[in-house]
Amino acid sequence: MSIVDQIRDTKDITPDELNLILNTEDKELIESLRAAAREVANSVYGNKVFTRGLIELSSFCRNDCLYCGLRRSNGEAVRYRLSEEQIYKCCENGYRLGFRTFVMQGGEDGWFTDERLLPIIANIRKRYPDCAITLSLGERSRDSYQALYDAGANRYLLRHETADPDHYSRLHPAEMSWQHRIDCLYQLKEIGYQVGCGFMVGSPYQTVETLYKDLQFIRSLQPHMVGIGPFISTHNTPLETFPNGKVSTTLRLLAIIRLLHPHVLLPATTALGTLHPQGREQGILHGANVVMPNLSPLDHRKDYAIYDNKICTGEEAAECQACIEHRLRRIGFETVVARGDFKE
Ligand code: 5AD
Ligand code: FES
Repeated sequence: MSIVDQIRDTKDITPDELNLILNTEDKELIESLRAAAREVANSVYGNKVFTRGLIELSSFCRNDCLYCGLRRSNGEAVRYRLSEEQIYKCCENGYRLGFRTFVMQGGEDGWFTDERLLPIIANIRKRYPDCAITLSLGERSRDSYQALYDAGANRYLLRHETADPDHYSRLHPAEMSWQHRIDCLYQLKEIGYQVGCGFMVGSPYQTVETLYKDLQFIRSLQPHMVGIGPFISTHNTPLETFPNGKVSTTLRLLAIIRLLHPHVLLPATTALGTLHPQGREQGILHGANVVMPNLSPLDHRKDYAIYDNKICTGEEAAECQACIEHRLRRIGFETVVARGDFKE
């Protein structure tokens, strides 16, 4: 049996197999990996791709992650936060364009207390009963997660960044705790959120061993979503001299994750599209089944600068939506007007 059949049939991978797949130059092997991953995705989701409208709430962040352009020590970062009205406008626009999931993402901005956030979530929940509300607002207290859930949020994205505590401590300042982040993910799941974890591919100090731990962590958490994208070297951050993560490694990992978790929601990320003009299409062809076009107001787009050279900073929501649809159609896929929930 080939190594790809083995991974697909057992839904398991050994460290040696992971090492081989990530380092091989055997084009046939990689093509068989890609084809198998796409076949598995097709058997669960067909040629349908779910879209999520991304609303970038705030570029303020209290954290100081060493890789991120929005880290608090980056004095060059332009800070903004959307007003309540601006957020509703994004949703309105998004709903009209066919989005049935709103992803509200932001830095860990102390301004967005529960007191301010809860009524916003409750209003969106009331206005759009047929939509999913996804939050991506970093680490908060269990009580806060619970209150946001009770107000109507359904899903939460919190990348674990790395499943190796030592690796985590080389990417984050000492005051940030790997254990706390992992605890947050389990709490979110317990509360009842559909949960997404994830990591950067090719982050500084990442090894095949740490990646293997990431796969093991995904196996034990059993998230509904896994977001992965290449690390992108970003100016004015402590890790600016490290090289970008590789597109090819990201694609191989997408395919592996699809084989290990046939039902998982797997986005073809903006970071992948940033490092390669057809990165997102390639992601879909390697087993991804979600895209997240941007709904943020045009005048703030370029200021949500997590990493350098981010795409889609000059296009209106409608333009990104049309662009994505066109790109997917060209490779034989279509977007659906649906919440796009995880399928057991
Ligand atoms: N390159 C790629 N991805 C990044 N992220 C943060 N900084 C970078 C970077 N320089 C990712 C992190 C974070 C998500 C919102 O963006 O994984 O969780
Ligand atoms: Fe934004 Fe193509 S998706 S410009």
